[in-house]
Amino acid sequence: MTVSGEIGGRNHFTDFDLDSTEFSQNFDEVVSAVHQGCPVARSEAQGGYWVVSGFDDVRAIGQDWQTWTNTNGYEPTRSGTDDARLYPLEIDPPYQTRWRSHLGEFFSPRAIRGNKESIRANANELIDQFIDHGSCDWVDAFAAHLPGRVFFSTMLGVPLEDLPYLQAAADQAVRGPVAERGDGWNKVGAYLDGYLKQRQNEPERGDFVDAVLKGVETDDGEPAPWNHKIFIMVDMLAGGLATTTFLLSGIAHFLATHPEDAKRLADDPSLRPGAVEEVIRVYASILSLGRTATKDTEVAGQTIKKGEMVMLSYAAAARDPRHFSDPHEIDITRKIPTNIAFGYGPHRCIGSHLARLQALTAMEEMLRRLPDLHMASGQEPLFSHSTVTRDMETLPVEFTPGAKEGSGA
Ligand code: HEM
Repeated sequence: MTVSGEIGGRNHFTDFDLDSTEFSQNFDEVVSAVHQGCPVARSEAQGGYWVVSGFDDVRAIGQDWQTWTNTNGYEPTRSGTDDARLYPLEIDPPYQTRWRSHLGEFFSPRAIRGNKESIRANANELIDQFIDHGSCDWVDAFAAHLPGRVFFSTMLGVPLEDLPYLQAAADQAVRGPVAERGDGWNKVGAYLDGYLKQRQNEPERGDFVDAVLKGVETDDGEPAPWNHKIFIMVDMLAGGLATTTFLLSGIAHFLATHPEDAKRLADDPSLRPGAVEEVIRVYASILSLGRTATKDTEVAGQTIKKGEMVMLSYAAAARDPRHFSDPHEIDITRKIPTNIAFGYGPHRCIGSHLARLQALTAMEEMLRRLPDLHMASGQEPLFSHSTVTRDMETLPVEFTPGAKEGSGA
């Protein structure tokens, strides 16, 4: 069967636009079509780029950092010379590897497990704020808040009252109108610059921030300069907030629309980690991230010239029918050897264990405190996109009102 790229009034094979509503409103259909008919699609948006969707192609490019550099930026609008850059995302090994090794201990499964009860307390404090109402917009009431509380309060020690400002600036940077994203990054960078300066003058806490302040050597053997430390901090914010918000929204949407699975998960906790993995796959929050060819090369038969950008569509790769039967469906018993939603190769997500733990803990508390969570009558979630992230703007849900627990974070 010949598949056409014409869906929703746009040809997604020859005129793909990751930011377009034609894509976001027909997401499943477009993803299926590119898997069948166009593993490397062309976009003329933002100066032009390629979109790679196959699981094997995305994995191979992710591993081959010599052919595919990150130093030209993670999306087409970035030139590699912006003031506010993302490290370790926008650098290559070996400097990137040194930062990853240096910071890895704070993101290992063991280190992350230590945050479980703090995550639970934060989740319950948020649920306390709406559980007696019987309804809420899940994104606004829960999913948009937990990741910031966990990362910035628990891991970085940033004061809670600063989170709304940081969150708004990060939202603007990652998924605001293209022309306003740079301004968002500048705001985030300025805040974190001030925070690092403050911490530099305080006694060491032995935490992640102190490790960033200590830094690593550049490829010239010099101590990492100050702005590289800011870039590391900015990347944590860019990588950890909108992504985990979408994941937590996905968990709620899945439970609210699959009551039989919700009951199985309530009865059998051993199924929960697998269910979380599946939600991460199907609600893959990184839609795509870019690489630039360092030489003329080829992907799935398509010539890519030196200097051209490919966007690796992690969200599409996570639904490749060559790797997953019924790829758009969540099967809570499915075993996934590699969750490509977290990327592959040297840049694979550093925060994956933190995201998983937040999702699992949130699921536990939702099943315990909101066991009959369902969509508000006649309502659907509102999805949106940027070049880089998939987002859920609203998720109107209902549940039997319950009692506050007053747990306190
Ligand atoms: C559901 C949640 C998340 C998803 C789906 C996700 C996805 C990804 C993906 C696909 C990459 C690969 C980037 C590339 O190949 O260019 C990545 C990298 C990264 N992620 Fe995540 N992420 C999530 C949560 C987090 C969290 C919670 C943090 C931090 C607190 C984080 C921080 C980062 C950083 C710093 C990188 C860059 C790593 C590098 O370049 O070496 N992410 N993430």
